[in-house]
Amino acid sequence: MPLHTSHAKTSLKIFNHPDRFIQGWYWAIRSSDLKIGAVKPLSLMGKDLAVYRGEDGVVIAIDAYCPHMGAHLAEGRVEGNSIRCFFHNWKFDQNGACTEMPCVDHLIPVKSSTYPTAEKYGMVWIWTGDLANQSVPFVPELEDLECEIAFGDRFTKKCHPNVMMINAIDANHFNTVHNFPIEIEFAKRSLNQNAIAFNNTTRGGDDSLLVKLVRRFYKNEATYNMSYWFGSTGTVTLGPDFQHFYLMFALRMLEGGQTEGQTILITRKRQGIWGWVLSQIILWLTWLVGNYFAKGDTKIFQTIKFDLKTPTKADRSIVDFISHVETQTSIAWETWEVIEPESSPQQHSQHPDRIPELVRETI
Ligand code: FES
Ligand SMILES: [Fe+2]
Repeated sequence: MPLHTSHAKTSLKIFNHPDRFIQGWYWAIRSSDLKIGAVKPLSLMGKDLAVYRGEDGVVIAIDAYCPHMGAHLAEGRVEGNSIRCFFHNWKFDQNGACTEMPCVDHLIPVKSSTYPTAEKYGMVWIWTGDLANQSVPFVPELEDLECEIAFGDRFTKKCHPNVMMINAIDANHFNTVHNFPIEIEFAKRSLNQNAIAFNNTTRGGDDSLLVKLVRRFYKNEATYNMSYWFGSTGTVTLGPDFQHFYLMFALRMLEGGQTEGQTILITRKRQGIWGWVLSQIILWLTWLVGNYFAKGDTKIFQTIKFDLKTPTKADRSIVDFISHVETQTSIAWETWEVIEPESSPQQHSQHPDRIPELVRETI
């Protein structure tokens, strides 16, 4: 049973919940760490998997424990596009069907579960369900472009991925923690059923020396956009029109509602050797930008017990994000079974509905 450590008691059904999460795509393992013919154990949202790459290059994610006697399939070996259990050598194909049972006269019909996989931004992604009906998280401006990537930090935090995600739209903290000279305000828009984006709409900072200096060279607005996928993966787009920087924070939940994450730095692919060099420089600058933001509030995520008891006008985007998360399909930790929304709304009406009310009262 997961530990309920850093979670305040609320009646939110999904947001910051330590035992359930949004059905969707989650990062699994770096593509380069899974060569053809290799198999690795992976624990993803409480479910143990064996992840392997067949000879056709396709990554297969299969339930870890062999349906014969429970041996971990990552102890076995890849054969073609199938995996063979180490223990009694049963063989399972890419759909999880058992195709060979040595020492058994007649094949018993046995099937293990497999899950959809995809590869994007140097990462293997796994869909936490049977049928993937949404796209893998992407940077909206780079949707159809080939990209160069570099990996930033891999980290763990003692708070829920949903809570960590809201940092990027916590308007007020940009001033108090990151010393922004500009007041930030966001406009939200829905990207698709599982993704929501927030765009900075404000200008200002006329009192700031730095802003005055930059304005001499650059008069247009600067972009700051945060897009959220499945409440756990966020892509940041920021910078002046002539150079946007792109970062992805891919998070997944650990037991007890804690976070494991990977930062991915992204830029579009450029032609030729000089194009490649330019991309590497931009990725390095992106890393510097990412570090600047990540460093400021690291300690908060080790001790926070998130509970938005007193929302203010500046917290509106956070409330919008929480409301978005609450509309998603949630599934249970470990079993990945869909949790049906409760039929009686009165039981759970207090918190999610109450937050927008509170915001209205405080504006
Ligand atoms: S436990 Fe896998 S074949 Fe027996
Ligand atoms: Fe921050």
